[in-house]
This record gives sequence, structure tokens and C-alpha cells, in this order.
Amino acid sequence: MSFEELYSEIKSRLNILDLVSQYVKLKRVGKNYVGLCPFHSERTPSFTVSPDRGIFKCFGCGVAGDVITFYMKIKGLDFKQAILDLAERCGISVDESLFAQKRKEKTLAELNYKVARFYHAQLLRSEEAEKARAYLKERGISEETVRDFMLGYASSNGRILSSLLRVDAKEIKQAEELGLIRRVEDGGYIDLFRDRVMIPIFNEAGECVGFAGRTLDPKGEPKYLNSPDSQIFKKSEILYGLFQTKKQIKQKGKAYIVEGYFDLLTLWQRGLDNVVATCGTALTERHVAKLKNLAEDITLLFDGDEAGRKATLRAISLFIAQGILPNCVVLPYGEDPDSFFRSKGEVEGPPDAILASFTFNALEFIQKEYQEKVLSKPKSAFEELVELFKSCRDPFLKKRLISFLATLFDIPSQEVAKALSTGIERDEVSEEYRETVEEGLCSHPYRIIAQYLVNYPKEAQTLKEAGLLEILDDSSPYTEFIRTLLSAYDAGVDPQEILDPFFQEIYSDLFFSPPFEDERSAFEQILHFIMKERARLKIERIKECLEKGEVSFEKGNIEQYLYQIKHTLRLKSCKIT
Ligand code: GTP
Ligand code: MN
Repeated sequence: MSFEELYSEIKSRLNILDLVSQYVKLKRVGKNYVGLCPFHSERTPSFTVSPDRGIFKCFGCGVAGDVITFYMKIKGLDFKQAILDLAERCGISVDESLFAQKRKEKTLAELNYKVARFYHAQLLRSEEAEKARAYLKERGISEETVRDFMLGYASSNGRILSSLLRVDAKEIKQAEELGLIRRVEDGGYIDLFRDRVMIPIFNEAGECVGFAGRTLDPKGEPKYLNSPDSQIFKKSEILYGLFQTKKQIKQKGKAYIVEGYFDLLTLWQRGLDNVVATCGTALTERHVAKLKNLAEDITLLFDGDEAGRKATLRAISLFIAQGILPNCVVLPYGEDPDSFFRSKGEVEGPPDAILASFTFNALEFIQKEYQEKVLSKPKSAFEELVELFKSCRDPFLKKRLISFLATLFDIPSQEVAKALSTGIERDEVSEEYRETVEEGLCSHPYRIIAQYLVNYPKEAQTLKEAGLLEILDDSSPYTEFIRTLLSAYDAGVDPQEILDPFFQEIYSDLFFSPPFEDERSAFEQILHFIMKERARLKIERIKECLEKGEVSFEKGNIEQYLYQIKHTLRLKSCKIT
């Protein structure tokens, strides 16, 4: 039995109602079952299960997925571990060799762990590491924190790992795969991390998946060096510190997000232990989705400078897309969380309390940020904020955003609602909010197209032939989804069997979205949208050529350009009906 077969075997044997009922009291409503969502606190049930399709969705907090995703989330397991557990629960005998991949990941993580322990021992004991110990001391990092987070030191020698691993050729190969060492011309191996303070990065399950190394040289470049992304290390998903802080985050229902490793360490040391950090990348949708399952009360704690504020605005938008309005801390200019707390004595109280007077809710933050611009350049301020908010799909939050913008710019709510014009998914919300396909195509076209494709697979081929793949724009999370969905249809694979929990979440979410009122007209509008986009992209290309002076003024070419431009203008002027 292949891994794919195992996955579908579990899905066919495991009734989603049986599994979910072990955690949620479900009541039948029509074809579906509803109950109180186990992933956020609520008093009226919005958690919905469709036994026919084997999927669930919470209309309150937005989590969605299939039976495997449910198990992953409720148990906090990774995908493969969930499959392993569920196979056992279903009594499916598993051929050990099937899990070679999972085993390999374990081996890789174990090797990282071995290296982490080695770096850690070096930091504690080696003579060369004296300057690293002094550095950490100077930064106020206690020995206890060094142990809690297994901080280490990588020698400047540069050949230390290969001699540590030399006895085992397999380990050398794995270390190469993890990017820890690299083969050089003389046939030997050189270490990636040299003369750096080492910060091992653990995943939620406590496996060591990668490293960050901070230079000790104040002029050293780069300041932080990361393990490259690998089978087990994905910077866009991993949250530093989560293994150590998850319990407290869950308990408190509240999480702080910082952008630096040392910010996290300093806060942890001060007793603020419900905190995570990104690993040298901006916050992503995947980070947000992960956090959302643990806590709803989120505080962004970024640097007190321009970059920090920009990052805060971006992060607010990501959380709004998931129905959460976060809090934001505005630190004094030039401070980061680490420097800020190190300038505060213990006597000034617990960190939560110290931060309180610097904390605003996201709307207060935005109001402060935009105070000037609202007066000096109201139009572009409005457009920027609409851009920031338009990913919002939670109807209640959306109402709040609309009234916020209406007050801020002193314009009627209807105008704001029109500008935002994004989807409202719940039928019980007033009819005037119901979005038309036309509005949807303006504000989040790829979501609308994905929703259409999920519900009407028979039209996939036609849309593809119309050029759908050509217009997919990588800035939307739905484009990756659309590509995967289309190739599944092509291969005759039921999308429910695609082995990607992120895909399954989107799939279930779209499946539960309200149907289009008129399938035919939705189809035509999407087709029209594709044609318009294709023409627009063509014109962009011509424009680029013109700007770069790469145009040849041959008669044939010019006629071609003119034809394309004319065609596009014609498309633009014809109204969508
Ligand atoms: P310290 O100077 O050690 O306190 O670092 P910081 O956290 O104050 O650094 P900064 O605000 O410059 O950067 C915040 C985070 O961005 C760091 O913790 C890293 O995760 C990341 N970062 C900063 N510089 C680099 C770099 O040169 N390369 C990479 N990959 N990440 C970096
Ligand atoms: Mn810093």
C-alpha cells in the first residue's frame, strides 16, 4: 500500500462524525451537523461538519479541513504523525517501509539535534567559546536561558562538524543535505556556521529542524545566518520558541509575536513566556494560521522604527484575513523588545504591565499611523487602508472595519462597504452584504475562481483552455491552490485525496462557501475576467517593451501591438453583465 493509498484508506474507514464527536457534541441540522467549536470559545455553535463530504468548517473562527486536518489540529500533530496515529486507530496495518520519508525526517532532525548538543557543549566548555560566553553575558542572557534554549557556539575552525561526523558517511551526506557542511575543492567539507553564537530552532514537536547563527563580530555579515530551507525546515512556517512557549500560549489564550531571536529570549527571561518569533522572514499566512489555532488574543511586538511599523501593518492585514484584530505595541523610537526590556529594571513590574501603556488595538494603531495622511492625502490613505482590510471575510469584523473607515474619513458606510466589497459568507448576515460575483472578481478574483472550480469541476477544462493558468498571479494564496486543483482534475484524482493539509483547509472552506446564485452567469463572468486579464497582461508586456526601447518598428509588429491594444480597450469598455 502506498502512502497515498493509506491516506485515502484512512479517509474511507474513518467517519468524520465519529472522530469529531469524541471532542465536540454534535447536533444534526439538515444534511450537516453543528456544535461548539473546539478551536475557539463560543456560545452559539458555528462548527459545522458535512458527513457526506467528510469535511468540517467553523464559521466563527474559519478553521476548516478534512478528518485528518481535524485530528492534526486537535492533537497538535504534524501531518505525517497524524496519518501514522490514525492508521493505528483504524487498525490498518502499516508497512514500515512506507514511512521511510517520515523516518528520514526524524533522522535529519536527530542529526541536527546531535549537532545542536555539540555546539551547546562547546559554548559551555570550550576555551575558544569564552568570547561567546562573554557576549551572551553582556547581552544579559542567563545560563538558565542558555540551557532552556540550548544555545551554542560554532568554532571559527570551520572543519569541526566534518571531523565530528566523519566516522559515518551517511551522516556526512545528511549534514550536507541540511546545509550544515559543504564540500570544497580539496575534497573536504567546510562548516556553514563559523564563529557564531548558535540558536537551534525546534519545531512544535521539539525536533531540531534548523539553526540560526549570530555573528560575534560587530561588523560581521550577515548578522544572522540560517540553515537553508530543507525537507524539515521551512522558514515561512516555523515559529521560533513555540515548542517552549506553546503550553503557556494555550493556557493564557494569548500570544506575543516578535521578530528577533534575542527579543524572544529576553522576554522569556523576564517571565513573558507566551511569545514566538519569526525566523528571519516576514510573518506569513501559515504562521498566522498556526497561531490562530492556539490563541485568539494576539499582540504584535515589533521594532520601534519605520520597518517595525510597516511590518506591523502587514501583519495586521494577515490577521484580519483570518478574522482576528490583533493588538500592537508601539515601542519608543529606536528600541526593539530586547533593548526596551533591558533598559527597564525588574522593579518596574511584570512585562505585561510594562507593555500595557504602549499597547493599542490594531484600529487605534492604524488611526495613529494614518493621522497625518488622512488629512494631507485622504484618497491614497483610503486606498491603502482598503487594500489592508479587503482580505477580511469575517462579517462581524468587517462591519467594524467599515464603521471605522467611515468615521475616519467621514464618508457614508455604504461607500466604504462598496470599496471593500468582499465576500460575506454567512447567510444570516443581512442581505445587503451579500457579494456578487462581479464584486468578488474585483477584490479577490482568485478566491472566487477557486470557489467556482471546487463546486463546478466540469468547467475546469474550459477555463483552462481560456487561459486561466496564464493569468495566475503568485501574490495570492489561492493561485497555488488552483494549480494543484486543476492538475488533480486533469489526473482524475479526487481533490479530497491530495496530501496537503493546507490544500485541504482551503478546499473545505470553499466547499462550505455559499453557492453562486446563478452558476451560468458566474461562469461567464469568470471567463470574461480571464480574457480581460490576459489582455491586460499583454498590454503590460508591450508597455515594458516600449519603456525599455525594445520595440521594433516594423510594420507587422506595430499592427500587432495596435490590434492588441484595440482589443483590450474593447474588452474594457464592455460592461460585465
Ligand atoms: P540583535 O542585533 O542580535 O539584537 O538582532 P535583532 O534581533 O535586534 O536584529 P534585527 O532587528 O536587525 O533583526 C531581527 C531579526 O531579523 C533577527 O532576529 C533575524 O531573525 C533577522 N535578521 C536580521 N539580520 C539578518 C541577516 O543578516 N540575515 C538573516 N537571515 N536574518 C536576519
Ligand atoms: Mn536587537
